[in-house]
Formats: sequence, C-alpha cells, structure tokens
Amino acid sequence: MSRLVVVSNRVALPGESRAGGLAVALQAALDETGGLWFGWSGKIDPSHSGKLHEQHDGNIRYVTIDLSRRDHADYYNGFANRSLWPLLHFRVDLVDYSRETWAAYRRVNALFAEKLAPLLRDDDMVWIHDYHLIPLAALLREHGVRCKLGFFLHVPMPSSDLLAALPQHSRLFEGLSAYDLVGFQTSRDLERFQDYVRLFGRGDVISPGVLETAGGRRLHAGAFPISIDTAHIAQQAGEAVENSSVRRLKDSLSGRALAIGVDRLDYSKGLPERFRAFARYLQRHPQQLGKLTYLQIAPVSRGDVAEYRALREELEQLAGHINGGHAEPDWTPMRYVNRNYAHPTLTGFYRLARVGLVTPLRDGMNLVAKEFVAAQDPEDPGVLVLSTFAGAARELDSALLVNPYDLDGVADAIATAMRMHRDERRERWQAMMGTLRTHDITAWRRDYLAALASA
Ligand code: G6P
Repeated sequence: MSRLVVVSNRVALPGESRAGGLAVALQAALDETGGLWFGWSGKIDPSHSGKLHEQHDGNIRYVTIDLSRRDHADYYNGFANRSLWPLLHFRVDLVDYSRETWAAYRRVNALFAEKLAPLLRDDDMVWIHDYHLIPLAALLREHGVRCKLGFFLHVPMPSSDLLAALPQHSRLFEGLSAYDLVGFQTSRDLERFQDYVRLFGRGDVISPGVLETAGGRRLHAGAFPISIDTAHIAQQAGEAVENSSVRRLKDSLSGRALAIGVDRLDYSKGLPERFRAFARYLQRHPQQLGKLTYLQIAPVSRGDVAEYRALREELEQLAGHINGGHAEPDWTPMRYVNRNYAHPTLTGFYRLARVGLVTPLRDGMNLVAKEFVAAQDPEDPGVLVLSTFAGAARELDSALLVNPYDLDGVADAIATAMRMHRDERRERWQAMMGTLRTHDITAWRRDYLAALASA
C-alpha cells in the first residue's frame, strides 16, 4: 500500500480540541499507511518563515511550517481569504483585487513545495486540500516530484463568468492540470469546472471525468461529496444527553422547543438573513410566539479580516434588536453565542433541537447539516431546514429545503417544522439517515483514494 501524504493549510495536530470529523477520517487513513501530514503550524514567526516543526503520533508524522507575519497577512488573510474565499462563494462584490497578495500566495505555495518535495517518495499518494494550495502540484513537479498528486476542493466551484472576475484566474486554474485527480463536492461543481476548462483552458472533456488540457495532459476529475462519521455521531449524541452542558441547556428551555444554528462567523453562512427570517417568523406566526427559542452558536473566524469584523457587528445589532422587540420578562427569543463547544456537546445540542437551521448563501457541502441529522433521536427526530445553496441539499433532499434570501419562505419553514407530525418527521429523517449511513466519511475517503490510485 502506498504511503498517504495529506497537505492542507490547517493541520489538526494531535491533542487539538478543534479536530473535527475530517481530521479523524484523514488520521485513520494516515495511520494505516504510516502517513505524513504537512501544512501550516498555525504559528507566526516574526523573524522568518519556513521553520519546520515535527511531531509523531502513533504511525503518523506531522511536519508543519511557520509563516512570517507578512505571509500570514498577505497569503492567508489576503489572497486566500479576501480574494479566493469570496470569489468561490459567489461574492465578487467582496473580492480584494490587490496584486501583492497574489505574489504572497505564490510565494507561500513555493515555500510549501520547497520544504515538502524532499520528504516525498515516488510511490507516495499525495492528497492536497482546498483553495489555499491550488498551485502546489505544479510547484512540486518543478522540484521533480513524480508521485500521484490529488486535489480536493472543499468549497464551491462557481461558474466561469464569475471566475473570470479574478485577474489571475488563468494562471491560477492552469495549475490544476498538474494534478492526477481533482475532486469536487458535487456534480454541479464538477460540471462548472469542465465548462471552465473548455472555455478558458482551451481543454476538452474526452469522457465523463476525463479531461485533456491545452498542454495535452490527461486529468481526471470527479464529484466526491464529503461526509461525516455517521455511526459515531449517532452514538455520541445519544450519550451526550447526560452531559452537564446539554442538561443545563435543556433545563433552561423550560419545556419550550429549541431551534439551533452552528456556524463559523462567516458571511457565506447567511446569518443576517437567518436572524431576519427568525424575526419574520415571530411576526408571521403569532400563534407560535413563546413556543420556540433559537440558539445560534457562531465562533469568531478570521477576525483579522475587515468583512468578518463588520459581520460580527451587524449580527450583534440584529440579535439585540430582535430580542428587544420580541422578548417577554420570562422569555428571550434568541440566544447568540460566539464561543465554541466540544464536539460531543454540540451533538447533544443537536439532539435536543426541534429545528436545525442551516441556511448558507453558498456552501461547498456543510457538515453541520449532516451532523444534525445523524444526532437525532430516531423515535422523535427534529426537522432540518436546509438551504438549497449548500452542497448537502443534493443528498439531504428530505429536509425542508429553503432559499435563504426568501425570508418569508424560511420563516414559514420554521413554522412548518414546529407543526410537523412525528410520523412525517420520522419518514424524512429515515430517508436522510439511510443516505448518511452508506455515504459516510470512510466511504468518502476510500472512493477518493481509489480514484486517485487508478487515475
Ligand atoms: C472552511 C475551509 C477550510 C478551513 C475552514 C476553517 O471549511 O474549507 O479549508 O480550514 O473553513 O477556516 P480557517 O480559516 O480557520 O482555516
């Protein structure tokens, strides 16, 4: 079996509490093959960038690299999170067009390539993750790396017309042709990539999932919807109801139903729209007033970036406004919390909830939607209200699907979820849970790695 090498900007180092399902899945695969995980250390080294740290855990070797203050500002906060992130989430209006950050993005990818290349063997399988590292394969090839190189894009692939707004789009996406396999979340993302290759890459689609680029290179591409550790989450949620935070939440509701949202504080998640839709629900469905409490957990993310700080202020104002306008002496309609919770606790919160609100304006997949479903009590499951603009909506089509911009529609979906009979809730839940049981995180990584091995 080939050794697996995972490369990502963020590395889930051993013992870190934020390790989610993806980290667990990758760690399992790395452990089987005595693998290596390479990426940013999460540290800024003011003197110089490029310092390596090495750690071992079981069979896995972690090699991480520090960034200089400037690279952190211009590569991570800059090109990755102020140009690519908004662009790939269809927010051309928020894209930053300065040229210095593109240079930093290239520079950091070149630094990753220089440090990683000597660690690679010809029979390795290298799996590179997400939009921070698109040019990495081409740069590794310049160092003479010959092993299989795969890429997976966790975020959406927008249409060619949107991508064309980025001045560097050709140079950026040309880099994808150095990979053996490029993976996307959904077949829609894959289609849009193929359109882009035909239109701007002067390439051709030879057969489904096989492309020939202008340079005559063969490239495989496919849709691999990421998933969760379904069985584990179901079990964890069942146990978490005994957890003290979950009990405290339950007691605090005084018998009222709970609606829950859990999102990084990011403009792609549609939080202002969701808050407004909840206010609309309170206005449009007075007969349900006081029967539902909405808990929004939104840990602060990328707080150095101006757009994220502005969003935080907007949400604070909105939450204050909604509670000020609707609260009673003994009931506050919404609770807004910026801290993060341990993963088992979150699954317990999901299980308590009657309504799960997952309404991003754009999302590659959205694993909260899948975890919410997996965490439900099979006898009395809650209802998922899910944006059609999340990749997860393609598999979770028994959720109440909503357009997150349509505030009245979201408000009515919440009311429908509150009224929905247990039989219908169970039917919808069983359909979704069936999908999640077969398409879990292990199936995802096996499918991807099998496709990479045969590409
Ligand atoms: C998204 C991206 C990931 C990223 C994560 C957290 O899920 O697809 O690549 O790691 O957000 O963002 P952060 O900037 O904190 O790494």
